[in-house]
Amino acid sequence: MCGIVGYVGGQQAAPMLTEGLARLEHRGYDSAGIAVIGSGLRVVKRAGRVKDLLEAMPKRISGRTGIGHTRWATHGPASDVNAHPHTDASGKVAVVHNGILDNAATLRRRLEDAGVELVSDTDTEVIAHLVGRSGAETLEGKVVDMLAAVEGTYGLAVVHADFPDRIVVARNGSPLLIGVGEKEMFVASDLAALVRHTTTVAHLDDGELATITASGFTTFRGDLSRTETAAHLVDVDPSAYEYGATGAEPRMYTEMLEQPASVERTLRGRLDERFGTAHLGGLRMDARELRAVQRVKILGCGSAYYAGQMGAQLIEELARVPADAEAASEFRYRDAVIDPDTLYVAVSQSGETADTLLAVEEIRRKGGRAVGLVNVVGSAIARACDGGIYLHAGPETAVASTKAVTTMFVGFALLALQLGRVRDLSVADGKRLVAGLQQLPGQIEKVLADEDRLARVAATLSQAQSMFFVGRVRGYPVAREGAQKLKEISYRHAEAYQMSELKHGPLALISPEVPTVAIVPDDELTDRNVAALHEIAARGGPLVVVTHEDVDLGELSAERIDVPRNEKELDPLLLTIPLQLVAYHAAMNLGHDIDRPRNLAKSVTVE
Ligand code: AGP
Repeated sequence: MCGIVGYVGGQQAAPMLTEGLARLEHRGYDSAGIAVIGSGLRVVKRAGRVKDLLEAMPKRISGRTGIGHTRWATHGPASDVNAHPHTDASGKVAVVHNGILDNAATLRRRLEDAGVELVSDTDTEVIAHLVGRSGAETLEGKVVDMLAAVEGTYGLAVVHADFPDRIVVARNGSPLLIGVGEKEMFVASDLAALVRHTTTVAHLDDGELATITASGFTTFRGDLSRTETAAHLVDVDPSAYEYGATGAEPRMYTEMLEQPASVERTLRGRLDERFGTAHLGGLRMDARELRAVQRVKILGCGSAYYAGQMGAQLIEELARVPADAEAASEFRYRDAVIDPDTLYVAVSQSGETADTLLAVEEIRRKGGRAVGLVNVVGSAIARACDGGIYLHAGPETAVASTKAVTTMFVGFALLALQLGRVRDLSVADGKRLVAGLQQLPGQIEKVLADEDRLARVAATLSQAQSMFFVGRVRGYPVAREGAQKLKEISYRHAEAYQMSELKHGPLALISPEVPTVAIVPDDELTDRNVAALHEIAARGGPLVVVTHEDVDLGELSAERIDVPRNEKELDPLLLTIPLQLVAYHAAMNLGHDIDRPRNLAKSVTVE
């Protein structure tokens, strides 16, 4: 969604800002802009992509302090006027803002009553006017005055022509990072915009503000009292972010192919072959605390939620602890009963998803214990949790999540193994699972090697306007994730259903025009699943069956996709990967922009 960059230092700000914005493009946006302080304040902004902004840029836009933004429309359509930065009536103040102000309508009315002419539809414009109208003598004082009037979520950066040496930033519910360089400083809402320049980073906390000048930064609260937030070196490989900016292949494709390596990284150093268990130090729970867990509740959104459903199944099977997954976006609105004996697990690639973050905050407010299964190190969700498991998937920038989903599955398998082994899971079963997990990277390679065939299946499927994805128990979240991937990037209607529920309604839709992708692993449910396939075939429904070699489909006429066998508990991961490739090739076949699916953003930072 929206992205923020800022620069103050010895170099020209404009190219630094546009380069930073280009590195945030993957987040999804529909307009972009920059504000630079030189001999005065200059603002350039455009609806469209960063390249449209670059085309609109005057030859010389000089100044060594500036802020930039990519906007994903919330209040008002994508237009030049609604793009950030927004300015005040004096033309001296410029503001970029991520998040949503809840009292924007009231503030707009108040400003209009006071004779201010608002030019945009946005909530952000009120911030610029409030800063501009403050009587405080310092920029910090003006920003603090403004913050006292606004309610809602924000990560924001403010520049002022009368204070050309600084950027003032503030955070409440929307991430902001400060990057420390040599006599230059950076601001960004995402590490991806910083790593080319620095990996020494300070994370602001909610309620914190900072002043950033070329020589350093200071942090403070809303009452101007100082805080002690310090910068630290983040453990990331800057080169891992490079392909995102320059690669010729869609990033989704590159990320799918990375899965053998990303799964290996999630496992690295965490398996104990001797005792058939996993070690997850980051959970910060000893064996006694793990044994005391009576239930597990997993919370995430979208594909992370489906990975959570796979995780709940794993936990129930291996640890025999009741477990379920729920969409964090629903959980947080239903005044959930928080149980002290339940372990709440928040799962998120970005660590920024607003609904998941708010669910964690609600759990902790009510005294529950929440741990995170998160990819982005130091992200808001990771920081809000009591402990957790980092996925180590590496940066994922494609909107359609692939390697994060499969590493989430592996993270849950590790958690299930550790929870199981402090309970009744035998050492023999533990060793069986450890060996199965170790085989996964090689087996993923094998599935990926079947790409040409999967591309042919995808070409046929992409001709259908509507289709079903069905599975049972372990296969159902796989079906949900498969349908989700296809919808997101091919814009074809794909509905996931429990195989067992078909005859209770949706079978009415089966026809030669509506294909079904069925997940049929070789397990205790195979016979039931094959019987359901016959019911579909009998009604003329075309079938694609993702299954294991040797599963007997009888006389069924179906496109068959075989994946390698592993331990049956681990099946969902290997069954998921062909569906990613099918979605990718269906979308390619239809000529869609894979990494920029319409209406979607990578990190959903609004509620
Ligand atoms: C995945 O393909 C989606 N783009 C989306 O559902 C995503 O998984 C969801 O928004 C959650 O994101 P998170 O993992 O960063 O929290």
